[in-house]
Amino acid sequence: MLSRKAEDYLEAILNIVEKKGYTRVKDIASALNIKPSSVVEMLKRLNDMGLVEYRKYDGVTLTPKGREIASVVKDRHDTIKAFLEIIKVPEKIADKDACIIEHELEAKTIEQLKNFVRFVKSAPDYPQWLEHFETFCKTGVHPCEERSIKY
Ligand code: FE2
Repeated sequence: MLSRKAEDYLEAILNIVEKKGYTRVKDIASALNIKPSSVVEMLKRLNDMGLVEYRKYDGVTLTPKGREIASVVKDRHDTIKAFLEIIKVPEKIADKDACIIEHELEAKTIEQLKNFVRFVKSAPDYPQWLEHFETFCKTGVHPCEERSIKY
């Protein structure tokens, strides 16, 4: 099992590589809000674990194994973030909290969250229950209750 911190590094490196095509220590430092000296220390450890390739002046790349782990973490992140946004958590908060939750959940929970996100997003029209949920968040009253239609 990798530490949370290690997972965060791999995820951050993957995100930066996807955006810029390469990664430098300072990119990781600013993405994770960590001092460059601490980043270097962690990169050396990840390098020794065979998860990244870190060469002092050439920057950082993920090894195939590192990339595989990073992809899993990123997929968890995207799933949790999408779920939180469906239940109307603002994007910035959803992004931040996804990064906290992503390390802890059982694979089955992630799978079901993913199914739920896919289910909602594949609806041909904006789901009515979701509209009702939005109203409920604002008013505390279920629209069906207002019209006295009970499920
Ligand atoms: Fe994350």
